[in-house]
Amino acid sequence: MNNPIEPVELLVCTTCRRGQATDVEGERPGALLHDALRAQEVPEGVTLRAVECLSNCDYGCSLVLRGGDQRWTYVYGKFHEATDAEMILDVAARYRDTADGLIPWRERPVHFRKNCIARIPPLSQIPTF
Ligand code: FES
Repeated sequence: MNNPIEPVELLVCTTCRRGQATDVEGERPGALLHDALRAQEVPEGVTLRAVECLSNCDYGCSLVLRGGDQRWTYVYGKFHEATDAEMILDVAARYRDTADGLIPWRERPVHFRKNCIARIPPLSQIPTF
């Protein structure tokens, strides 16, 4: 079921090197991950966006799930461009189906359980002083 509140964005860092030396030529792993995601069917209500460095370079490839001012925002890392696209899109769809961004723990793949870099509360839950 789609969240009637806000659509979801999946931001993928295309500059991630995933531990590669800076002098390695060719496409970066982050760009390859973005390509792998684009090659699949992105779930309805999820917009895939390419971004540059998310300041999680030591634990790339990195991405963000965010969606409006009612959902928690999450930063995740340590993805691999060759194996993780399908899992990422499945989680993006589960995230879209929540009102608050909180996917039940047992529904999260182990990779997402173990590689959450940060979570940011929704604007609606931040009190003003
Ligand atoms: S280059 Fe991807 S997080 Fe910095």
